[in-house]
Amino acid sequence: MSAATTSYDPAQLQALDAAHHLHPFTVHHELARRGSRVVVRAEGAWIETADGRRLLDGMAGLWCVNVGYGREELVEAGCEQLRELPYYNTFFQCTTPPATELAAELARLLPLGMTRIFFGCSGSDANDTAIKSVWYYWNLQGRPEKKHIISRRSAYHGTGLGSGSLTGLANVHGPFDLPLARFHHIGDPHWYRDGGELDPDAFGRLAASWLEAKILELGPEKVAAFWGEPIQGAGGAIIPPASYWPEIQRICRRYDVLLVADEVITGFGRTGRTFGFETFGFTPDIVVMAKGLSSGYQPISAVAFGPRVGEALFHADVEYAHGITYAGHPVACRVALANLRLMAQEGLFTRASGPAGAYFREHLMALEDHPLVGEVRVCGFLAGIELVADKASRRLFPRERQVGLRARELAIEEGLVMRAVGDTMILAPPLTLSEEEMDFLAAAARRTFDRLAAELRD
Ligand SMILES: Cc1ncc(COP(=O)(O)O)c(C=O)c1O
Repeated sequence: MSAATTSYDPAQLQALDAAHHLHPFTVHHELARRGSRVVVRAEGAWIETADGRRLLDGMAGLWCVNVGYGREELVEAGCEQLRELPYYNTFFQCTTPPATELAAELARLLPLGMTRIFFGCSGSDANDTAIKSVWYYWNLQGRPEKKHIISRRSAYHGTGLGSGSLTGLANVHGPFDLPLARFHHIGDPHWYRDGGELDPDAFGRLAASWLEAKILELGPEKVAAFWGEPIQGAGGAIIPPASYWPEIQRICRRYDVLLVADEVITGFGRTGRTFGFETFGFTPDIVVMAKGLSSGYQPISAVAFGPRVGEALFHADVEYAHGITYAGHPVACRVALANLRLMAQEGLFTRASGPAGAYFREHLMALEDHPLVGEVRVCGFLAGIELVADKASRRLFPRERQVGLRARELAIEEGLVMRAVGDTMILAPPLTLSEEEMDFLAAAARRTFDRLAAELRD
């Protein structure tokens, strides 16, 4: 870890944070009582807190720091751009070299003739861009009735009005009067939870058939698009059976429904290919990207349009009256370019599908022998470890016991950051993780589950 340049007073920061800072996805008065964990610096796969603790970051921040922390190439790129041109917009006939170069680089990386790229700052605004573009597309086609959008119940696509409506999670909806009209949610391809006696592929086809049923219920002439994360991340690391995505694609083509891949988590090497749709064997019409695009070093997102929608947008005579001040921000684009260059140099787009990925999988799968672990799901450097009260029946612990949250706390005591989604523990570490760090991660996870099991027995 680089030498400390600033010293912090954790207690003072916690007090100020409690008094003034509203956090995402938080019960504020509870956080104020418990105190925020103040993270002050990081290097490689490790973060350090203001009270001097070092933790292995098993979540790469929030599924985003793909190249790891402290990469000078990205820092330098950002500094150079800040000196040269810290900001200019991409409105009114203008561009900047980094914005244009990044659009061209993404068009090169995307294998599908996806040559038209629009920039934003977050996964949420990128999904909103894609929703509006889908509606705009069908308007351009003279089919204004084709506006309904289907996603999944445990989908996470962000928290904006549109992206939050795509998201299927009840906590994102209820308090905010979402979803908006014309958004619909079908079941998840979650074999371990819902597959019953079916083999995974049969269940994958069944889960895809729920899309067909929903399209027929709404009327194919009214359905604009199906939206999905190749792997559902924040919904619980739901890795679909191999049969699922090809069948979803077939159904979308059959009913002339656009297929949108939200690659915000799965993009940029997470699954062992550049994009998750390559791993799962389908071809989307639109791709939404963020997080790993800049490894989280700068806030940036992008939407790539395939030939069908992209050409319609390009040739339209109606103004595309959409966009934000920071679309194509030159510093963010320059850092993203440096990130993609570094990923290519270090083989990080595919590291998760090589020997390092196999090592990661093997170490995590070994946890399946633990009495608390019902299933370990791994794809590339993304994993879900489902904790259950009874392995044979797959019975969960009562929700109020908050077993996942307790596991998260114990893991931190063991030096590991894991995320809890219900009682599923999630891992999505930097793609640079060394074998030694994988050993540490698996051992810390096992110690966590041992301690949890002992507590649950008491
Ligand atoms: C698949 C997916 N889409 C969209 C988003 C929203 O991105 P952001 O938080 O940058 O708005 C997320 C965030 O975790 C995500 O996982």
